[in-house]
Amino acid sequence: MSNTNQQWGGRFSEATDAFVARFTASVDFDQRMYRQDIQGSIAHATMLAKVGVLTDDERDAIIDGLTEILGEIERGEFEWSVELEDVHMNIEAALTKKIGITGKKLHTGRSRNDQVATDIRLYLRDELAVILSELTRLQQGLLDVAEREADTIMPGFTHLQTAQPVTFGHHLLAWFEMLQRDYGRLADCGKRLNVMPLGAAALAGTTYPIDRAYTAELLGFERPSENSLDSVSDRDFAIEFCAAGSLLMTHLSRASEELVLWTSSQFNFIDLPDRFCTGSSIMPQKKNPDVPELVRGKTGRVNGHLISLLTLMKSQPLAYNKDNQEDKEPLFDVIDTLQGCLRAYADMVPAITSKKENMREAAMRGFSTATDLADYLVRKGVAFRDAHDIVGRSVAFGIAESKDLSEMTLEELRQFSEVISDDVFDVLTLEGSVAARNHIGGTAPDQVRAAVARAREVLAAR
Ligand code: ARG
Repeated sequence: MSNTNQQWGGRFSEATDAFVARFTASVDFDQRMYRQDIQGSIAHATMLAKVGVLTDDERDAIIDGLTEILGEIERGEFEWSVELEDVHMNIEAALTKKIGITGKKLHTGRSRNDQVATDIRLYLRDELAVILSELTRLQQGLLDVAEREADTIMPGFTHLQTAQPVTFGHHLLAWFEMLQRDYGRLADCGKRLNVMPLGAAALAGTTYPIDRAYTAELLGFERPSENSLDSVSDRDFAIEFCAAGSLLMTHLSRASEELVLWTSSQFNFIDLPDRFCTGSSIMPQKKNPDVPELVRGKTGRVNGHLISLLTLMKSQPLAYNKDNQEDKEPLFDVIDTLQGCLRAYADMVPAITSKKENMREAAMRGFSTATDLADYLVRKGVAFRDAHDIVGRSVAFGIAESKDLSEMTLEELRQFSEVISDDVFDVLTLEGSVAARNHIGGTAPDQVRAAVARAREVLAAR
């Protein structure tokens, strides 16, 4: 008995083992690229007619057939078949069933190898646009909250120990900067992936007089790829996307960690609205920050997918190998994960409310203006190391007396240095401390507002 596979069964003398057919099929997961597969096929047929390989009537029949199939898939009427292996052969077989022998001409001058390479690029390009717009929405939300919280004072930390007072707006702008770099990396990946593999055929190119520049133009690609072997085997763009995705998730995960800390009763710095939290089935008092926790957790799977793809590629000889079919599930999951996490974050961030009194009190508790006192002494002529020691002793006194530096009397402060006078209280207040860091990148409320204004211009130019 010969093999019944219409697309490649000719040279086979027995049917594919039923398990092997299922084992090697990708249709369950690659069907999500149906729109891009049809888009690529329509462009290919249009080009084939332009160069005279297909007649205009054949082209039109193919385009009409594919357009009908698109409708069927979108209405959920299309029957996917595992025997037909993947999205490409399912759609091609349906076309032939619909329009007859002309359908069999679509694959002229093309291979599934350049077809799949094209489809994934088109697919990722579309999904990347969604990711970039959600990322922008999140960044806009951050700017709104940062502006609202430009004057809100909180402790800034190093080693998670109170270090110096900062404004909450300034802290949120740090997140903004992290995401700004992520945007740049993802946008850059989008430029590099926008090169068209179609025309490479199986690996060596094709003998038909194809016009690759024309197909590239039809599909919105920057240009046709330069080398056919590279075109069918390159998955750098997927790896690059996952790497950029890993960094983005790392940033969201760090932000999540802070949200989890800040919503805890120990910190009690912020509130997340109930709609982003869940309760406990046993402990009635609980309100858990599930969204940040889940985002933090999902970072692991994205990192894992990056390693999967790197490992998938590392030993492949040129050109296409079936290994490459394994690129899709990790890639798709990274896309889904990024879209989900960004959407949740973009919805949640504008709804963060600060508990200003608690933040302020925490900043007060940790001697966060100690550096300001040292800087004050330096301005009065004390060497920095001596100033450091004087402040250290003042802090020790404060710990013993349960007093912040700003709560000590002038008398008490002067025990440690005679150069201290009345004006010291201008620098010991939290407001004085943040306002004094008044330069680009500093935490002063005015700087936060200026940074928000600059960032808004950057977003407007996207
Ligand atoms: N389903 C395959 C993939 O995802 C399509 C290309 C298969 N090409 C081949 N010659 N077997 O990579």
